[in-house]
Amino acid sequence: MGRLVAVSNRVADPRNHAAGGLAVALSEALSKTGGLWFGWSGKAIDINQGGTPGEGELHLQQAGNVTLATVDLSREDYDAYYLGYSNGVLWPVFHYRLDLADFDSGGNLNSYRRVNQLFARKLAPLLKPDDVIWIHDYHLIPLAAELRAIGCGQRIGFFLHIPLPPPLILAAIPQHEWLMRAMFAYDLIGFQSQADVDHFARYAQDEAGAEPMGEYRFRAFHRTVRAQAFPIGIDVDEFIELGKGDDSRETYEMMRAQYARRRLLLGIDRLDYSKGLPQRLKAFQTLLAEYPENRASATLIQIAAPSRESVDAYADLRRDMEGITGAINSEYGELDWMPVRYIHRSTARKRLPGLCRASSVALVTPLRDGMNLVAKEFIAAQDPDDPGVLVLSRFAGAAEQLKEALLVNPYDFRATAQAIQQALHMPLAERRTRHAKLLERIRAQDVHWWSSEFLRALAETENG
Ligand code: G6P
Repeated sequence: MGRLVAVSNRVADPRNHAAGGLAVALSEALSKTGGLWFGWSGKAIDINQGGTPGEGELHLQQAGNVTLATVDLSREDYDAYYLGYSNGVLWPVFHYRLDLADFDSGGNLNSYRRVNQLFARKLAPLLKPDDVIWIHDYHLIPLAAELRAIGCGQRIGFFLHIPLPPPLILAAIPQHEWLMRAMFAYDLIGFQSQADVDHFARYAQDEAGAEPMGEYRFRAFHRTVRAQAFPIGIDVDEFIELGKGDDSRETYEMMRAQYARRRLLLGIDRLDYSKGLPQRLKAFQTLLAEYPENRASATLIQIAAPSRESVDAYADLRRDMEGITGAINSEYGELDWMPVRYIHRSTARKRLPGLCRASSVALVTPLRDGMNLVAKEFIAAQDPDDPGVLVLSRFAGAAEQLKEALLVNPYDFRATAQAIQQALHMPLAERRTRHAKLLERIRAQDVHWWSSEFLRALAETENG
């Protein structure tokens, strides 16, 4: 296989393991063979400092055997491409939230196209003829089409880290035809779950008139594309090792000492409306109301890392969370017990395994989620002899794999409260059996499996 070129909106230094999810996954794949990682530099340049829409300086940096190539964006492009179109239109619609999408501004779409064109222009001269290009996520859907338009004939794969909604929801995006047509510039498209693949197949056939060619290959717009599910995993051993580190062990000891008489429930998320955080708090409130034996005992630690704060829907969510947390704590709190500890900050990754291991129950209850790696990290962090229980939304991509978790409908507070009650009282033998099976599953399809399966499929896929 030729050199691997990964492209994603955010780029991380592969030598820095503090980053999470996508960054760890890509670093791992790139470091194996060496390669190029291309994306946004993280800088938005104001107009009075020379930030011009559609332009941006390219920075090259060597990180071990990986070359990092990043481009600055003008403030105007950052606002419209990243906040406006990627996170104001694509993110809500792809998470089934048409009510939160802002379709009005044509300027956002222009900027989304302009940034994808800028990336293509900056990336093309860095490419070698036998490179294999792997593009990631919703910010960059039209990038392959832009690369093809300027003559790139290399094999190009795409992985969508978020869900793909059913055709009728997608069709609410005024430019859905253009977006989906752009997908046919890829040779292989990877999705998180079979549900996403099925939505793509239905869209391709019903809306784009694509001809099914078997084995999830579809032909339309004079190109053939293959679509397949590659559920992303974590580096299980890396996370277990992290759990043996001082920071993690210290966190574990501190939590155990402080909450010796309590049962800990844990939520770790970005503060995002797709994560179902208000619904989770209401389910917890229902637990305290309907199962009063949990009062003065069950404590929910909810960590919600700040995210995309300039988008209105995120600011609204922040206010909602503060309101609901205050209501629960004032209704049920005691002098020596607060039911909810809500932390609107991020927590160092090196402390997470300890925090997970100290918790009896993890609440991973998104309203919709591409995969959700926290669910997998919680499983990896547990003591196999005395493991905690995972309460998982059936609407997370992870639910297709993690069948031994307690699966819930997060919109149904009472049923979710019941599942939490079941988790808190699950006999040790059942906890062990479920955990052993879940651990086996996250090991079988871990992050190494994910990248090597995708790249193998891309190498086998006919180009064009
Ligand atoms: C999701 C997306 C990623 C994104 C991450 C963090 O996981 O799939 O592409 O990088 O959220 O969001 P941010 O907007 O801060 O990059």
